[in-house]
Amino acid sequence: MTPRVGIHDLAFATAHQVLDLAVLAEHSGVDVGKYYVGIGQSEMSVPCADEDIVTMGAGAAAQILDRLRERDGTTDGIRTLLFATESGIDQSKSAGVFVHSLLGMGENCRVVELKQACYSATAALQFALGIVARDPREQVLVIAADIARYALDSSGEPTQGAAAVAFLVTADPALVEIEPVTGLHTDDIADFWRPNYLSTALVDGKYSLAAYLRSLEGAWDEYRARGGVGFEKIDRFCYHQPFTKMAVKAHDRLVAIAGADLDKAGRLAQIEASLRMNRRTGNSYTASIYVGLLSLLEHDEADLAGRRIGFFSYGSGSVSEFFTGVVQPGYRSLLRTEADARALADRTPIGYDRYRALHERVDATTGGDDRTPAETTGPFRFAGVSDHVRRYERTGR
Ligand code: CAA
Repeated sequence: MTPRVGIHDLAFATAHQVLDLAVLAEHSGVDVGKYYVGIGQSEMSVPCADEDIVTMGAGAAAQILDRLRERDGTTDGIRTLLFATESGIDQSKSAGVFVHSLLGMGENCRVVELKQACYSATAALQFALGIVARDPREQVLVIAADIARYALDSSGEPTQGAAAVAFLVTADPALVEIEPVTGLHTDDIADFWRPNYLSTALVDGKYSLAAYLRSLEGAWDEYRARGGVGFEKIDRFCYHQPFTKMAVKAHDRLVAIAGADLDKAGRLAQIEASLRMNRRTGNSYTASIYVGLLSLLEHDEADLAGRRIGFFSYGSGSVSEFFTGVVQPGYRSLLRTEADARALADRTPIGYDRYRALHERVDATTGGDDRTPAETTGPFRFAGVSDHVRRYERTGR
């Protein structure tokens, strides 16, 4: 018999600076209502010079490993680490190998990086479930981390952001059991992409919205055709959130496709708690749907134990998947709600000039020796590059 498999633990990290979108609106001469209401974003996390996907990913994963060490005295049970990102820091080496080293994990471990725009964390989840289903002794650590960057003064600029999640996939999961039926959709399109020679993404904004919604329909149709449950059997929904209004639009579309009889308040009640953290981090690409899951578990006032969540994961280009999971009894005792609220509240607010200087610094990086200024207040930092090798260190915080 196939074991019950799913997410056993889920942790969050973000960058240690924040830009209120009112600051950007003032610079751009745009009514802030367009950002706060129109796209549903109030802030974006902005990485310091010594933060990147590795430092954020390690910050999230360390919390899971600490808990595992407390329980088992070791983290050697993790024999696979999958790092999902589209903000890769090397064309060859997985960002996961840096995290593996920073966290002192055992050497009997396979570590690999996955990429397909904002979808790759879901690919990692599905691969992890397969590994655990084959041998229930296996534990797989998935890290999803991204820094969403668009050109200065472009229409995508207010939808930037940064965050990471880490989750542990095991048999008999304590948080969310993932159900086996999924619906898939792939379509070779150019809605959003980042060529190797650019540090910022290119996007066909309006087309990308339409592509997301079309892909949702394709994935949902296949999910149903393969025996997935009806809309009315799903209690909450969690979407990829490039900006939170996108999830609202997607849910409205799904309700229409499924022919469900739900007014605006009823539709919003099914997703509202999942939007709260992303509204403040900004887009975190492949991490965003799992930041949404954490936000849902932490902020939904209802007891979600035994309730089913529908997930729609979308990665431009494009690949998407619809699947479901059931929240497990006792899930609340595993959440780090206060720490996650602090991670958002304790970010240092920055002004427009600092934001712009940091944005421009990324493009100025040449690959020569570079000692990075010590700025982050987080536990890990990117110390710089020497002999073309990226160096990371613990900060002692
Ligand atoms: N008060 C309230 N609302 C306002 C307003 C105001 N003063 N001014 C404008 N608005 C509303 C508009 O009516 C609009 O709402 P609707 O979409 O509901 O009609 C909303 O604010 C946005 O306004 P515009 O459409 O005029 O905004 P824009 O043309 O500047 O671009 C965007 C919006 C296309 C999302 C742009 O931010 C963008 O290109 N973002 C990046 C691409 C993206 O995120 N695509 C999502 C799908 S692809 C994906 O999911 C992968 C990924 O992670 C990128």
